[in-house]
Amino acid sequence: MGMAETGNKIEFMKRTILITGGAGFIGSHVVRRFVNKYPDYLIINADKLTYAGNLENLTDIENKTNYRFEKMDIVNKQQVLDLFKKYHFDGVIHLAAESHVDRSITGPDEFVFTNIVGTVNLLNAALGIWKDQPEGKRFYHISTDEVYGSLGAEGLFTETTPYDPKSPYSASKASSDHLVRAYKNTFKLPVVISNCSNNYGPNQFPEKLIPLVINNIRNNKPIPVYGKGENIRDWLFVEDHASAIDIIFHSGKTGETYNIGGENEWKNIDLIKLLCNIMDKKLGRQSGSSEKLITYVKDRAGHDMRYAIDSSKLTRELGWSPSLDFEHGLEKTVDWYLTNQKWMERIISGDYEKYYDQQYNKR
Ligand code: NAD
Ligand code: TYD
Repeated sequence: MGMAETGNKIEFMKRTILITGGAGFIGSHVVRRFVNKYPDYLIINADKLTYAGNLENLTDIENKTNYRFEKMDIVNKQQVLDLFKKYHFDGVIHLAAESHVDRSITGPDEFVFTNIVGTVNLLNAALGIWKDQPEGKRFYHISTDEVYGSLGAEGLFTETTPYDPKSPYSASKASSDHLVRAYKNTFKLPVVISNCSNNYGPNQFPEKLIPLVINNIRNNKPIPVYGKGENIRDWLFVEDHASAIDIIFHSGKTGETYNIGGENEWKNIDLIKLLCNIMDKKLGRQSGSSEKLITYVKDRAGHDMRYAIDSSKLTRELGWSPSLDFEHGLEKTVDWYLTNQKWMERIISGDYEKYYDQQYNKR
C-alpha cells in the first residue's frame, strides 16, 4: 500500500476506489477502464440497480480479481457508512444518479433523494474516514453541463458560468455540486468536479435520444421529435468522457471544476436525420425510408434550447481532447446496438414498455 503526491498529480498504488453508479451507462465504461488499466487498484462498484443499472454491461470484467460489486442504495445512510467501514476507500468517483430529464418532470422526488441526499451521505462518509488524513484522498463528483441552464444562439458554458438549472434533474445536480463545493470550503474535503455535455455510445438506456432513435428505426416505430427539433446538444462519445474522468481523477487540481465537451453541436433534427441515413445503410433499407418515421410531438416542458461546452481548461491544463469524430462515433454506436440486439430486447421487454407508453402514447 502506498501513495505519492507529486505536485498535483496523485499516484495511487494499491488503492481502493469506490465508483458509484458503475452499472449505468457512463459508470460501466469508467469501471471497465479502471479495472483494465489499473490492475493494482481494487475497484468497488456500488449501485442500487435501478431500471438504469444493468450488470450485463460489465460481464467482460466481472470476474477480474481487482473488481467487486456491492448492491446498495446511496440514499440509505447506514448502507453508505457500512460500505466505507468495510473498504476504507482512498478515492471516490461518484456517478450514481437519476439521470433522465423527462423522468424528473413526471417524478422529481427520486431526483432529490438520490442526487442530493445520496451525495450528502457519500460526502459525510468520506469526511468521516478522511478528516484526519485528507492527503492523497479524492472525492470526484461527476456532474452535467445542464446545471448552467440554457444558451441562446451564441456563447459557450465555461467553468465560471453562473448556475441556472431549469429542470428538476439539473436543479438536483446543481444542488449536489454546491454541496460538494461546500464540503471543500467548510470541511476541507479534497474534492474535484467535472461537468460534461451529452454522452452517447454503447450501453445507454433507450430512454435517451440516440439509442431510442436507433431502436425505433430498427423496429419501424415513429421517431418522436420534441417541438420543432431545433434544440441543440453538444455530443461526446462515452469513452472520451471516461478518459477525461481518468485524467481528472489522477491529475486534476483539488477543489477545481473542469468542463468536458465534444465541441460537437448538433440540432436534434439534423442529428436524427444523420442517424436515419446511417441506419438505412446498415439495415440495407432504401435511402430515405427511416426519415419517414420522423414524427413531431409535443415539446418537453421547459425544454432547454442549447447546451455547448468550452472544455479548453481541461485541454490546456491536463492535455485531454476527444479521440473520436462524431460520424465515426455514431457508426460505432449504431454497430454496437445492432450487434447487441439481445441487450436492447431484454431492456425493452420489462418496465420500459410502461414508461414508453406513458411518455409517448399518452401525452
Ligand atoms: P444512468 O442513469 O445510465 O446510470 C445511473 C446509475 O446510477 C445506474 O446504474 C443506477 O442503478 C444507479 N443509481 C441510481 N440511483 C441510485 C441509488 N440511489 N443508489 C445507488 N445507485 C443508484 O446515468 P448515466 O447517464 O450513466 O450518468 C451517470 C452520471 O453522469 C450521472 O451523475 C449524470 O448526472 C452524469 N452525466 C450524464 C450525462 C449523460 O449524457 N448521460 C452527461 C453529463 C453528466
Ligand atoms: P436526452 O437524450 O433526453 O438528453 P438531455 O435532455 O439530457 O439533453 O435528449 C436530447 C435531446 O433530444 C433533447 O433536446 C430532447 C430531445 N428528445 C427528443 O426530441 N425526443 C425524444 O424522444 C427524446 C428522448 C429526446
